[in-house]
Amino acid sequence: MLLLHRAVAPGLQQAYRLKSTPARLCIRACCTNASFQPQRSSFTFSGGNSSTRRWRVMGTLLGLGAVLACHDQQCRASQESPRRYTREEVKSHCSPETGVWVTLGSEVFDITEFVDIHPGGASKLMLAAGGPLEPFWALYAVHNQPHVREILAQYKIGELSPDDKAPSILKTSDPYMDDPIRHSALKVNTQCPFNAEPPPELLTENYITPNPIFFTRNHLPVPNVDPDTYRLNVVGPPGGQSLCLSLDDLYQFPKHEITVTLQCAGNRRSEMTQFKEVRGLEWSLGAISTARWAGARLCDVLAQAGHQLCETEAHVCFEGLDSDPTGTAYGASIPLARAMDPEAEVLLAYEMNGQPLPRDHGFPVRVVVPGVVGARHVKWLGKVSVEPEESFSHWQRRDYKGFSPSVDWDTVDFDSAPSIQELPIQSAITQPKEGEIIGSGEVTVKGYAWSGGGRAVVRVDVSLDGGLTWQVAELEGEEQRARKAWAWRLWHLQAPLPAGIKELNIVCKAVDESYNVQPDTVAPIWNLRGVLNNAWHRVHVHVAP
Ligand code: MTE
Repeated sequence: MLLLHRAVAPGLQQAYRLKSTPARLCIRACCTNASFQPQRSSFTFSGGNSSTRRWRVMGTLLGLGAVLACHDQQCRASQESPRRYTREEVKSHCSPETGVWVTLGSEVFDITEFVDIHPGGASKLMLAAGGPLEPFWALYAVHNQPHVREILAQYKIGELSPDDKAPSILKTSDPYMDDPIRHSALKVNTQCPFNAEPPPELLTENYITPNPIFFTRNHLPVPNVDPDTYRLNVVGPPGGQSLCLSLDDLYQFPKHEITVTLQCAGNRRSEMTQFKEVRGLEWSLGAISTARWAGARLCDVLAQAGHQLCETEAHVCFEGLDSDPTGTAYGASIPLARAMDPEAEVLLAYEMNGQPLPRDHGFPVRVVVPGVVGARHVKWLGKVSVEPEESFSHWQRRDYKGFSPSVDWDTVDFDSAPSIQELPIQSAITQPKEGEIIGSGEVTVKGYAWSGGGRAVVRVDVSLDGGLTWQVAELEGEEQRARKAWAWRLWHLQAPLPAGIKELNIVCKAVDESYNVQPDTVAPIWNLRGVLNNAWHRVHVHVAP
């Protein structure tokens, strides 16, 4: 119980070393309760500056706390008489000079030493200084894990005075309250922020994924953007002219339409976790979907703003209208060369499968970067600028990067790895399902295959005996254009089964036009964030007698 979670960020481990005195370990041991889930707090949230200010004010107000579920019974039982503090006392500890205190439930923590090593940055943690953590943990759901609570427990200094009730005026509202209604078929990974994938049996039912079951990957609450007042800010080159485009302005650019598959870098992470623990959402094989997107080409818009390809390596940075309590927007970037290349077909999309973009998928405008990892397809696009360097966003520089299996959270150096852009060749089996009992005589295997960078899928091999022998699957759907194969191929294999066979170890692997193939196991590609899993996909089924 006292052991630190293996996959803890270096900062957190440093914090542990700083704080692991016997007394603190005792407190920590008695306070850790894996079943405790902080309540969803509630406060309003949307993109835009005024709401950001509101957030900041709220952040301070929230310091007075709310009445929350407690997980301290064990702690009370074994701690004779914990020191008691009033909320006013906690509130007065809100700076490095006074010390930084926070509360969780009825517990009080002195996190002064932890602030600078908070993996999410000191400024974000300081928003909670002098008050409760719950509103922030509700937003950053990643905190809601036993190992984070264990680390926090090391900083416990006492409890809130039981007589000191949270003022009722400080009831807060839910930042996710305004999120859209979702389709019930989606397999929900996390509700807040919303992350969900279609079940395998629906995923490959159609070449084009219907909008309501297209996988969703949100990091923050969904902004509610008014299409009438929406403006896209395109920063011009030095000496050039910036554009402030309404939706109608965007519609004036030639409308371009393409079918593109989007895949999250974390697709199939759950298989990596089975090999060795990683940090991230437990995506199964459905963090991938395909749609017909329509919009203005980014190269046309950039050209109108006066941009051209320049000698120095440059990047096009995108900012979403979804932002966190500090006002930091989701952001990402792609190389200018890709953005300016008409053949790369990068879109500022306003339509998805003939409809305005659904809110979860970026209404009213999102970036679509064919052949590139989902993280760069910035939704609710607010700003485009051309910069000498990649986006400074957390999601460009501190996430969505691949590392050697030898790298762990103690040794990881995010600056040493390039950000993921084009994804590797991928395929997976959607039918039959793991553990299914199939009929004897014949088996039908179905799945998808896709490669990044526009590389066409040239073959899918399927094995029914764990990779000893192989058969070539039939590729379905639209022919792919060489070097511009932006969308997946669905495939199937119908094969007779030998009489008396009891089980099948079905495996698939795809080959792209560069003859890139998938690795046979997860072990050599395992990485601490669990991204880029494209190992052979394996499904074990039983055959009915
Ligand atoms: N854009 C914004 N503004 N905010 C986000 O959280 N998530 C990114 C990308 N664009 C994200 C975003 C990630 S990680 C992925 S995989 C894709 O959107 C998912 O797009 P989808 O939800 O439409 O499937």
